[in-house]
Amino acid sequence: MKNIRRIGVLTGGGDCPGLNAVIRAVVKTSIKQGCAVTGIKDGFEGLVKGKDFTFELTSDSVRGILPRGGTILGTTNRGNPFSFKVIENGIETTKDMSGVAINNMKSLNIDCLIVIGGDGSLSIALDFFKLGVPVVGIPKTIDNDLSATDFTFGYQTAVATATDAIDKLHTTAESHHRIMLLEVMGRNAGWIAMASGIAGGADIILIPEIPYDIDKICNKIEDRSSAGSKFSIIVVAEGAKPSGGEQMYLDSGAKRLGGVSQKVADEISAKTGLETRVTVLGHLQRGGTPVPFDRLLGTRLGAEAVRLALDGEFGKMVCLRTPDIKSVTIQEATGVLKTVSPDGDLVRTAKNIGISLGD
Ligand code: F6P
Repeated sequence: MKNIRRIGVLTGGGDCPGLNAVIRAVVKTSIKQGCAVTGIKDGFEGLVKGKDFTFELTSDSVRGILPRGGTILGTTNRGNPFSFKVIENGIETTKDMSGVAINNMKSLNIDCLIVIGGDGSLSIALDFFKLGVPVVGIPKTIDNDLSATDFTFGYQTAVATATDAIDKLHTTAESHHRIMLLEVMGRNAGWIAMASGIAGGADIILIPEIPYDIDKICNKIEDRSSAGSKFSIIVVAEGAKPSGGEQMYLDSGAKRLGGVSQKVADEISAKTGLETRVTVLGHLQRGGTPVPFDRLLGTRLGAEAVRLALDGEFGKMVCLRTPDIKSVTIQEATGVLKTVSPDGDLVRTAKNIGISLGD
């Protein structure tokens, strides 16, 4: 088996709280085992661009980063080496630059690549693995939608941020007798909406997995009003859609979801005559200090990924299988989304305590 003397590490896709905790754990564990670490800037794009986009990661470089949001390595949603955007003769086109990336790894003496990413970055990691590149994956996303792990780090911090927003909306909604809608992230999964909605005491939660009926939403608001509660809080996942309808995009080309909460608010106003207000929480959910759960999970995953790399267990992704950190093949881990089950415990709990799912 190849002796691993230098590990390369990159963060790909959208950032999320806890990435720095993972990087720190990768560096500390590697150095303790006598292995050097190269940080690659801006995800796979940095691997294609080579030496100038790399730097030595030492104990000094990771000092103090545990509580910091974001990623000290930088990241991007673009830069897939297998279809890399280039300008040729003044025209933008895409080119397979995977060979360039592999050569860069060789010239930088990187023996194994640790990829910290979501579904997209892990799929790229898998493509490299199929070309013989030693890779180990670490799952990351605030959306918590990767099936191979119980939780992704970043999710609990996003839920805490969304719950705090609901708490704040409650007081102003009650004072003004308004219907307040909070749109949260999550792509095609309603995890952030469900968890924050229940933890924040929302009256209605709309998620992609359960198409909503606007009349059911209005009935719930009117029932509350008749019972004396002249305000309501509605948490709307960005991927929610009406029964028989489609999801809404701010940019359909880039598949950037958004706008559904304003549509629901307008329909509620038109049907009930009540005053509605919309808050889109947006990237606040991705920023800030990671909660302890995410720091701990990130640290455990980072340390275990180095163990896999040093043991030559390539093509694998570390994951949380409570109470342990385990691993699965990246092949198994990618492509299967974990979504909220309409028959599962979260939805049942919500309904049992009187929260409407709009169905
Ligand atoms: O996957 C994480 C996520 O924050 C989603 O919840 C959201 O839909 C998307 O990324 C936003 O991406 P961007 O930062 O490119 O706007």
